[in-house]
Amino acid sequence: MKKYSLPPLPYAYNALEPVISAEIMTLHHTKHHQAYVNGANAALERLEKQRKGENPENIRGILRDLSFNLSGHKLHSVFWPNMAPPGKGGGAPGGAIADQINKDFGSFENFKKQFSDAAKNVEAVGWAILTYDAESETLVIYQVEKQNFMHPPDLPLLLTLDVWEHAYYLQYKNDRGAYVDKWWEVVNWDDVDKRFTKAKG
Ligand SMILES: [Fe+2]
Repeated sequence: MKKYSLPPLPYAYNALEPVISAEIMTLHHTKHHQAYVNGANAALERLEKQRKGENPENIRGILRDLSFNLSGHKLHSVFWPNMAPPGKGGGAPGGAIADQINKDFGSFENFKKQFSDAAKNVEAVGWAILTYDAESETLVIYQVEKQNFMHPPDLPLLLTLDVWEHAYYLQYKNDRGAYVDKWWEVVNWDDVDKRFTKAKG
């Protein structure tokens, strides 16, 4: 089986400053994301051993670990390219995603407010996510608590915002709201638009 591996960042660790510090980006990528990659690989090894009768542990614990770590890996793998250095990132979206946002939310400002509210109000730690449901032909915002998709929905991740404390605490302390408000300056709308276009088919 091919192992999961840590994808490289599409920019330097200090590239998102002053919005997100190099220290946060370095720890977040090399420690936290790496830990999810390792955790997903370890859980799969435990499952493999169980299939061979070499691991008597309860499968429920293994699957929980797999879900937690693999979801963490997948979410972070979208989170990094969802961002770009200030100047390149930020501003308002263009292209098809801009039209869809206007159609579904009335305006970009309305969308930004609702997405920010979702991120700021995640209970404890988790994620705000923008997805597109091709069945209802609409953009959908949702929250993830921790990162445990116990049942992964068949919806693509277009835009993900990590609101675990490791994503902002070293710079913004307990002020998640300030981090979320500032984060818009590094959103890579070209990347979001690419994901949206693919999701629409
Ligand atoms: Fe994270």
